[in-house]
This record gives sequence, C-alpha cells and structure tokens, in this order.
Amino acid sequence: MIAFDQVSKSYDGVSRVIDNISFEVLKGEILVLLGSSGCGKSTTLKMINRLIDPTSGTIYLNGKDIRKQNPVKLRRSIGYVFQGIGLFPHLSVQENVSIVPRMLGWPSHQIHKRCRELLELVRLPPENYAQRFPDELSGGQQQRVAVARALASDPAFLLMDEPFGALDAITRDSLQQEFLDLKQRFAKTVVFVTHDIVEALILGDRIAILHEGRLEQVATGKEILQQPATPFVRDLFAKSVNRLKALKDTF
Ligand SMILES: Nc1ncnc2c1ncn2[C@@H]1O[C@H](COP(=O)(O)OP(=O)(O)O)[C@@H](O)[C@H]1O
Ligand SMILES: [Mg+2]
Repeated sequence: MIAFDQVSKSYDGVSRVIDNISFEVLKGEILVLLGSSGCGKSTTLKMINRLIDPTSGTIYLNGKDIRKQNPVKLRRSIGYVFQGIGLFPHLSVQENVSIVPRMLGWPSHQIHKRCRELLELVRLPPENYAQRFPDELSGGQQQRVAVARALASDPAFLLMDEPFGALDAITRDSLQQEFLDLKQRFAKTVVFVTHDIVEALILGDRIAILHEGRLEQVATGKEILQQPATPFVRDLFAKSVNRLKALKDTF
C-alpha cells in the first residue's frame, strides 16, 4: 500500500506545486492520477521513489515512512516507466531490460532467462527482438520494452508516467488492453499517470484527479461520473462523456 499524508512540494520555496495532498493506493489496485499538463502528476510520482523529496508531509510504503528506508532498496521494490520512453538508445532490447537485474548482481544465466520471459510477456518474441536497438522498433514496441524493463526485478509497485501518451490511438488501445491482461496476472500495486480521461476510465480501479497541485476527488470512475465532488470534476468528465455519447449516437 502507498499512502500520502498531507504532502506538499515547492520547488522555489514560494509557490506550492503540490498542495497538501492525502490519498492511498490500495494493494493490488491501479490508481490513475489524472490531470492536465503541469498540474503536478510527475512530481507526485517521483516523490514515491524519492527522486524528489516532499517539502512537507509524509509518504508511506506498506506503512513505513519512505524517508526511513534506504533509497536504493526502496527503488528496487518499485518499477518505474518514465514519461517519454526513456530506453537507452545505445543498448539493445535485451540490455535495456537487464539493467536492474544487472545492478542487483543476478548471475547472467538468470538475467538471460528473466529477459526472455519478460519479452515473451510483452509479446516481443526474444528471438526476433532481443538483439535489436530501440530505433529499430515502433513506438508501441519501444513502450512494451519499457514496461518489460520496469517489471524486470518483479517489483511489488509499479509507477507509470504517461506510458502510452506518445502513441497513436490504435496502438494505445491495444497496449491498454494488454496492460490490463498483464495486471490481472500479476496483481501489482500501480500508480498510472495520464491526462487522458478515457484512459483513466478504462484502466483505473480508482481515479485521483489532480488540479493545480490539489486533489479534487479520489473515487471509482462510476462514482465520479455519478457524483463529481467539485464543479471542476463535473465539467472535466461531462465534456468527455458528451463526446462519447455523441459518437455512440452517430453509429
Ligand atoms: N525540477 C523542477 N524545478 C522547478 N519546477 C519544476 C520542476 N519540475 C517540475 N516543475 C514545475 O512543477 C509543476 C508541475 O510539474 P509536473 O509535476 O512535471 O507536472 P505534470 O507531470 O502534471 O505535467 C510545473 O509547473 C513544472 O514547471
Ligand atoms: Mg509529467
């Protein structure tokens, strides 16, 4: 479980980019952090694995204050898919996926086995893909490698920062579906960042809506649609739902 207790972050010591947020991510759920560009989503995610420290407040992982945990150990228990794709261009697919196990000092036959397993898992048969370089893959394939890499050490937690944001709509749809299938098999605790309302509704067990550094509502998609907590949330979802309804009426 991940818990934020009255967490704030200021980069300049004056304005708060994150303003007193409290929420929980339950074991095994996908919590989607939804909000527009610049509202503080990446900052929130980076505070979980201590790439950034909060200015005030406390974050707990499985009930333990993350400041009291060894940052290296902490990061080993957390898989991270960075915004943008973030593969190392000069490393092959296999080398990209092997980075964390290598850092952890796994024996090479075990790294090799895990790497093959992961590539199968994300539907990139290793015999075809393991030796390729990122620029020899499509955007969707690169994103699959990024997911495989984040899963390499079988972390309990997975943080994903707009992982499908740069993909075309068709590729995005199929990766969303694949991700849901994967998730069912693994039961990881996931924080998934997006600015896409439909993606939030498809993937989120619950959705946390962030607006200008404040949390507007944390609830299931259904609850949000039925009972938006604020006028901002109501308007945000009404637009998307109306567009979907209009589309449905067209066909
Ligand atoms: N390292 C940083 N130093 C100063 N300001 C930053 C830094 N990182 C992000 N910001 C600012 O904090 C705000 C939130 O950024 P971010 O968390 O990246 O938002 P999002 O991921 O929702 O687009 C933005 O106004 C951004 O410019
Ligand atoms: Mg961001």
